[in-house]
Amino acid sequence: MSSPQILNIGICGFGTVGQGVWKHLSAHLGDLESRLGVKLHLARASVRDLTKKRDVKIPARLLTTDPLAIAKDPSIHIVCELIGGTTLARQVTLAALRRGAIVVSANKALICEHGPEIIAAAQQHGGHFFFEASVAGGIPIIKVLREGLVANRFTRIYGILNGTCNYILTQMEDRNASYAEVLADAKRLGYAEADESLDVDGWDTAHKASVLAWLAHGVWVKTDQMIVEGIAGITPADFKHAATLGYGVKLLAVISRDFVSNELSVRVHPTLLPESNVVANVSGVFNAVSVTGDVVGTTFYSGRGAGQDATASAVISDIADAAALLKHGKGSHLLGEDQGIRGGGCRLTPPERIRSRYYLRLTVQDEPGVLARIATVMAKQKVSIASVLQTPAEQAGAAALVLTTHESNERAIGTTLQQLRALAVVLAEPVLLRIGDFEQ
Ligand SMILES: NC(=O)c1ccc[n+]([C@@H]2O[C@H](COP(=O)([O-])OP(=O)(O)OC[C@H]3O[C@@H](n4cnc5c(N)ncnc54)[C@H](OP(=O)(O)O)[C@@H]3O)[C@@H](O)[C@H]2O)c1
Repeated sequence: MSSPQILNIGICGFGTVGQGVWKHLSAHLGDLESRLGVKLHLARASVRDLTKKRDVKIPARLLTTDPLAIAKDPSIHIVCELIGGTTLARQVTLAALRRGAIVVSANKALICEHGPEIIAAAQQHGGHFFFEASVAGGIPIIKVLREGLVANRFTRIYGILNGTCNYILTQMEDRNASYAEVLADAKRLGYAEADESLDVDGWDTAHKASVLAWLAHGVWVKTDQMIVEGIAGITPADFKHAATLGYGVKLLAVISRDFVSNELSVRVHPTLLPESNVVANVSGVFNAVSVTGDVVGTTFYSGRGAGQDATASAVISDIADAAALLKHGKGSHLLGEDQGIRGGGCRLTPPERIRSRYYLRLTVQDEPGVLARIATVMAKQKVSIASVLQTPAEQAGAAALVLTTHESNERAIGTTLQQLRALAVVLAEPVLLRIGDFEQ
């Protein structure tokens, strides 16, 4: 069968990302076409509201309110799903894949929730699913795992995958400001959504971690199978204590695979990183990912994690891959379409084998014997204290105890926390942060 000479592209969802794709693809069309050897035609776009004012103007006849019509249109070769959410986006994606089209998606929530169904539909009907824009925006991390580092087994992938959280944490540290104050600023500046919970509670990072874990290990890990903790409990005092100990604080996704026990853990939590770690020095809305492979060693990637331009850059890279696939009939992305083989029957790591050092800040009654009582609780769980720092707390009659532990595990620290909460001398919810002693 001869390959089409003109490739029609449909953009479902003409919001922030959709308009960015149209704008940048139009601007670089000639260059891309000559490099790919095919004509690219931006054929149609869909919106919810035809009357909305948009920065990127396109002829009204190209706009529709029916994204499914684009998905099902046999003349559209490449369908970009840039609507968001998991209901209509799923319908659009499946409708396009079921007629053997190529779908390009930026939708990590959709992949996390419906990944197996989407990949199965692509394989069954001869469609293809590309998703570079779904994780870390402008950083081509999907290509890194799928292509550049294909020779490797990945022992650890960790990084900052949510620019909103990194912006908030950086501002809290730089301005010595409270979480609430910085969050309000972030909303005003458009860095945080009106409902911030998806970002600050760690769920957006967890969706992206799920995508990376599948690519690297061929296992679909749902968010309810992960440890997911957000940043709302962190105070400016934690940055000061962390700095005293030589650390910065970052919200990280951490994906660890032990190839000996054949266990995989995927988790999202605020983490103390040594100031010398490059990831600890990535600030503001930037993302960063560290990937350790058994062949290459540790590699590091950083760049804008979201926003119109960075995300459009990733979507256009997928469109170019899709065009190459349609022209030549194959592509290196195919290495990513049967990830199951990377799984090798691996299981999720049980909590008692997820090991770390911990930072624990406790607001306690300022009276003699308190530290001894806390140490007794910890000793019962074999959580051994490495250092103790005592400072006045904000409450009168209270003190802040900042403890670090030697290596322990998630089950022991979880039980320790439960028991500490029950002590009358512990006056507020303890703040627990993992210490990330990762190789660089
Ligand atoms: N924004 C980023 O920086 C970024 C970064 C990485 C990934 N992503 C992902 O990219 C996707 C799109 O994000 P975005 O920021 O571009 O979203 P957005 O600005 O809200 O745009 C969504 C588009 O979909 C349309 N739409 C929404 N619901 C619809 C419905 N029920 N029927 C028909 N059309 C509907 C909207 O129409 P109207 O314009 O008429 O409302 C709009 O054009 C999401 O999956 C997001 O997670 C975004």
